[in-house]
Amino acid sequence: MRVLLAGGAGYIGAHTAVALVEAGHDVLVVDDLSNSSAEAVARVEQITGAAVPLLSADARDVEALTAFVREHAPVDAVIHLAGLKAVGESVAEPVRYYDVNLGSSLAILKLMAAEGIPTIVFSSSATVYGEPESLPLSEESPTGIDLANPYGKTKRIIEEILKDAAAADPRLRAVSLRYFNPVGAHSSGLIGEDPTGIPNNLMPYVARVAVGTLDRVGVFGDDYDTPDGTGQRDYIHVVDLAAGHVAALERAREGYEVYNLGTGTPVSVLELIAAFERASGKQIPREILPRRAGDVAASYCDPGKAERDLGWTATRTIDDACRDSWDWQSKNPNGYATV
Ligand code: NAD
Ligand code: WQD
Repeated sequence: MRVLLAGGAGYIGAHTAVALVEAGHDVLVVDDLSNSSAEAVARVEQITGAAVPLLSADARDVEALTAFVREHAPVDAVIHLAGLKAVGESVAEPVRYYDVNLGSSLAILKLMAAEGIPTIVFSSSATVYGEPESLPLSEESPTGIDLANPYGKTKRIIEEILKDAAAADPRLRAVSLRYFNPVGAHSSGLIGEDPTGIPNNLMPYVARVAVGTLDRVGVFGDDYDTPDGTGQRDYIHVVDLAAGHVAALERAREGYEVYNLGTGTPVSVLELIAAFERASGKQIPREILPRRAGDVAASYCDPGKAERDLGWTATRTIDDACRDSWDWQSKNPNGYATV
């Protein structure tokens, strides 16, 4: 298949591009590079040896998307990873989040209808489950749009838009992938997570403490009802996550489906820090801080539906993720700006 990756220069997009090429697909990327670098796409080309055309444009720009797709026709599918993803920022700038995340999704659906592209795989998030009523989370677990933050609401609303679009067009194949916590990097050390400014997420924060660009990691609460009192999450290696996109694309059927992509194994903040210390051989100074507003105690999935329907399962551990994240961070201490 020839696949348009919207947001393909980003963290998950670049890994997905590699997985697609390795599975025999052709990839084109549209990305406005607002949270990424063209260097990531150049590194994808370096890893795979394939040419990956990059259009630097806003995914809300249907005209630009149309011209790009026609230039590379026929395009068979879209993987839509483009958008804004910082939870705190979404509370401060809700209109921008609704505009970019919903606007890009609507533009892509209009493009697909006009150009006869039948398949879309969308980056949703475990955040749509909000505060879990019970664990592990299955695709049938309750979700709502009464979520704590606009970011999560955009994901939930886009899921509903895809469901409605698939109900209205029997040829459409639409899949939402609810990612749990993506971590790690490609084993080449050439691509990885490169957040701008101070990272919001635990793994890139810990990686920067290990490499020496940040002093210590704050542990947001050690009084949760979890085995060691710190928050538990389902950390999924980004290369496993990328493979999940290939499986979803290849197995998608007419209609709409949702899949959790996670490992099913909860890992606490302190366990992740310990794993990173083992992987890096560095001590990671930490300090217990109050809970972060909006955090849940624990979130992990039942990945059984993806295994049954897509034949996909995560194979990499938190130790693998820490090793690969450390390899990426130590080889690229300033991310893509290192070159
Ligand atoms: P990322 O920021 O690295 O990738 C998103 C990409 O989209 C970036 O390259 C950015 O430049 C691009 N982009 C943003 N606005 C755009 C626009 N208007 N037009 C074109 N490109 C635009 O983030 P990521 O971690 O790779 O996340 C990819 C997707 O997965 C996002 O939709 C995110 O919400 C979702 N997701 C991420 C996580 C996570 O923890 N990383 C978890 C669940 C879901
Ligand atoms: C993990 C654990 C924190 C940072 C977020 C979004 C979610 C999804 C993934 C996109 C928690 C603790 C963190 C730190 C810490 N993104 N922590 N010190 O919050 O599970 O999910 O990213 O869809 O929507 O909400 O991930 O990595 O921020 O936190 O102690 O400096 O680490 O409290 O227990 P989270 P995270």
